[in-house]
Amino acid sequence: MTPQPFSVAAIRELFPALRQKVYGKQLIYFDNGATSQKPQIVLDTLAQYYALENANIHRGVHYLSQQATSAYEEARKTIQHYIGAKGPQEIIFTKGTTDSINLVAFSFGERLKPGDEILISAMEHHSNIVPWQLLCERKGCHLRVIPISKSGELDLDAYDQMLSERTKLLAITHISNTLGTINPVKELIKKAHQVGAKVLLDGAQSIQHLQIDVKDLNCDFYTFSGHKVFGPTGIGVLYGKEDLLDSMPPYQGGGDMISKVTFERTTYNTLPLKFEAGTPHIAGAIGLGSAISFLKGIDMHAAAAHELELTQYAQGILDTFEGLHIIGEAKNKTSVVSFTIDGMHPFDIGTLLDKQGIAVRTGHHCTQPLMDFYQIPGTVRASFAFYNTKEEIDIFIAALERSIQILGA
Ligand code: ALA
Repeated sequence: MTPQPFSVAAIRELFPALRQKVYGKQLIYFDNGATSQKPQIVLDTLAQYYALENANIHRGVHYLSQQATSAYEEARKTIQHYIGAKGPQEIIFTKGTTDSINLVAFSFGERLKPGDEILISAMEHHSNIVPWQLLCERKGCHLRVIPISKSGELDLDAYDQMLSERTKLLAITHISNTLGTINPVKELIKKAHQVGAKVLLDGAQSIQHLQIDVKDLNCDFYTFSGHKVFGPTGIGVLYGKEDLLDSMPPYQGGGDMISKVTFERTTYNTLPLKFEAGTPHIAGAIGLGSAISFLKGIDMHAAAAHELELTQYAQGILDTFEGLHIIGEAKNKTSVVSFTIDGMHPFDIGTLLDKQGIAVRTGHHCTQPLMDFYQIPGTVRASFAFYNTKEEIDIFIAALERSIQILGA
């Protein structure tokens, strides 16, 4: 599909949720880091699946089962082509990023030995911290944390020092959900590979903003969630290099992941089904395929440039506010502006913005260690998608000024 010339107005027309009012005000949706809105085509695909195609997959000889199986497997291929994977066997459907990371921690983690090291960074989401802590407890491994600067950039010298033959895995976010920092992942991956470590990229905040090519990145694993990339909740993807996935034991047992079961011994299915035990989220996978097809019609380079412009525009204005502190000022960042205001709780600001029709997220954003690093309880976070506009930012800024007046009074 050839992408259409990028037009925010045309794109907005495709998202029914953006047309609604809340509390009598036009909704301004700046909580895209938490979840994105869905285009009509994804909603139609889901409705059509449940209305007409609903059947279990990989099991039935009947017409509907074959239709559903073929739609599910087509979705896998759509995703495979979109992220540049070698084949559909490298695309595992999961419940989302968290599930994908847990799969790797439990399955790839089986090969780790006491004393082995896993590197993460100080800006990780809890879902890219806790699975590794659980693994370290099970296996006697060590979790090491690459430090960051106050501006929210990785300390690359420290990273170089931390890499050694003990490093078995680097698990790192591509774009920080709290700071918006875009990490220099190609460089990180290259260095990790030099010491024989594998690399998992948490792509929960990158696939909706950047054109992803897993071959070019040369990551070993890439994870993302459907609901943050204009698709349904409860579905996500684990990309893994075929030989690596092949060498890993199953994560969960059940239907579909087996080849032959006897009470004495079970043999497992080939990729990707080896990692898809039980009836999967069929509608979710098909809906995600539809969301990714939708993205293929969008000029992602133009979309990324627009999102960067929004980010810089908002940050530039907020920077002039007295007592307001931007949290995360990396040179290379996008789509997220997090901030605190002296003497005001993020929750109070978020609540007042909400009453003016503006959805932002407040709190620790599932990055408590990062909040500890900045010694703050939380931030107000505006996170943008390609359907947002500068006019919305202007309204947000005026609403924020009103909120500050109310809270300061
Ligand atoms: N991880 C999501 C966020 O950052 C939920 O908001």
